Amino acid sequence: MQNDVGKVLYTVEELQSRIQALGAEMAADYKDKNPMMIAVLKGSFVFMADLVRAMDIHCQIEFLAVSSYGNQTTNTGAVRLTKDLTCDIADRHVIVVEDILDSGLTLNYLMGYLKNRQPASMEICTLLDKPDRRQANVYAKYKGFTVPNAFVVGYGLDYAEQYRNLPYIGVLKPEIYE
Ligand code: XMP
Ligand code: MG
Repeated sequence: MQNDVGKVLYTVEELQSRIQALGAEMAADYKDKNPMMIAVLKGSFVFMADLVRAMDIHCQIEFLAVSSYGNQTTNTGAVRLTKDLTCDIADRHVIVVEDILDSGLTLNYLMGYLKNRQPASMEICTLLDKPDRRQANVYAKYKGFTVPNAFVVGYGLDYAEQYRNLPYIGVLKPEIYE
């Protein structure tokens, strides 16, 4: 699998050090608020696991699943909720945890959907931000890294459901996408 990687963007060490800092910042902001951390599956599963372990406060873990990409590398604009929450978020402090903020269409849809359930507050934490491709106006209060406009894989992120288990984030060799 690792032979398919053309370039490593963020090493295991770089990811860990950034996530430790992000977790500490969020723990300070949400101390005594028992935030509800909602990861957007599947891409955020690895990030979520490391992020919550970097937060030394009480918090709750929840999951949502959406599908927007299929097996392509560009967003079709269609967002579909494939797994709903199993709990009430009314009057709770919600943090939506995403792997990557790209066009913003997914989070724009999700934030509207969650807002209807009347949380006390709602913020976004995204590991990666790809601002060049933004189509919807979405604000992420917490960000790991700003990435260049390339399709990235690893650390939860996939290409055609593969490479989620790469321990670092990278870009595949061009021939893999062909
Ligand atoms: P949007 O465009 O709605 O995208 O902000 C959010 C979702 O699209 C996926 N995505 C990617 N997945 N490498 C990936 O593996 C990428 O470079 C990439 N860009 C967007 C991702 O699932 C995210 O939740
Ligand atoms: Mg994906």
